[in-house]
Amino acid sequence: MTIIAPSLLSAAPGRLTEEIQAIEAAGADWLHLDIMDGHFTPNLTFGPWIVELAKKETKLPLDVHLMVTDPLAQAKIFAQAGADFISVHVEATPHLHLVLDTIQRAGARPGVALNPLTPLDFLEPSLDFLDLIVIMGVNPGWAGQAFIPRTVKRVAQVSHLLATQKKDRSIFLEVDGGVSDQTAPALIQAGASVLVSGSYVFKSRDYGQAIAGLRQ
Ligand code: DX5
Ligand code: ZN
Repeated sequence: MTIIAPSLLSAAPGRLTEEIQAIEAAGADWLHLDIMDGHFTPNLTFGPWIVELAKKETKLPLDVHLMVTDPLAQAKIFAQAGADFISVHVEATPHLHLVLDTIQRAGARPGVALNPLTPLDFLEPSLDFLDLIVIMGVNPGWAGQAFIPRTVKRVAQVSHLLATQKKDRSIFLEVDGGVSDQTAPALIQAGASVLVSGSYVFKSRDYGQAIAGLRQ
C-alpha cells in the first residue's frame, strides 16, 4: 500500500503539536519535515527543533527533507534530533557519497532528492548508498504549487531503474510536491511508493478522508 507522508509545512503554525497528533490519528504513515535554509531555497522554514518536537509527539517515522546548501554540515544535527530518513538534494553537494555515508553513520536512513529538471543519471551510481529517492513534483521552496506533469514520466523511469537492479533491500520511491487526489493515481501507477502531501491534506476538512483518498 502507498505510504502517505503529510508535510508539516502546511500545518497550522500555532498548533504544530495538535496537528502532528491529528495527522497520526488520521492514518498518516510518515511525517515529512521540510527544512529550508533561505539559500538553497529562498524560503526559510524550521531548524532541528521541529524534528525534536515531532519525535516527542509521534511514533511516525520522521522523513526529513533537507533543502539546504550545506547538507554535509547539517546531516548529523538532524539525525541526532531524531530523523528516521534524511534526504539531501544532489544539486546541493559535490560530495554525495560522503553525505549519504555521514547520514547512515549518524543512525538515519539516507535519501536523495532531485529537482524537476535534474538528470536521473545521478541515481544509478547512488543506489547502493540510499534507502529513499525523492522525485520533486514542483520546484522546492513552497507548498501549494502546481504539479509539473512530466514528473509522472520521471517516476516511471526511476521505478524501471529500481526494478532492473537486483538489491538486497527495497528502496522507497517518493514524490514530493503537487500531490493531490488528481495527481496521485498516475504517480502510484508509475511506481511511486511514498506520496508527500502538504496543502492537499492539511487544507482538507477531514485529514483521514484526504489521506485515504490519496491511497486509492
Ligand atoms: C516543497 C516541499 C514540499 C511541500 C509539498 O519545497 O518540499 O514537501 O511541502 O507541498 P504541496 O503538497 O502543497 O505541494
Ligand atoms: Zn519536501
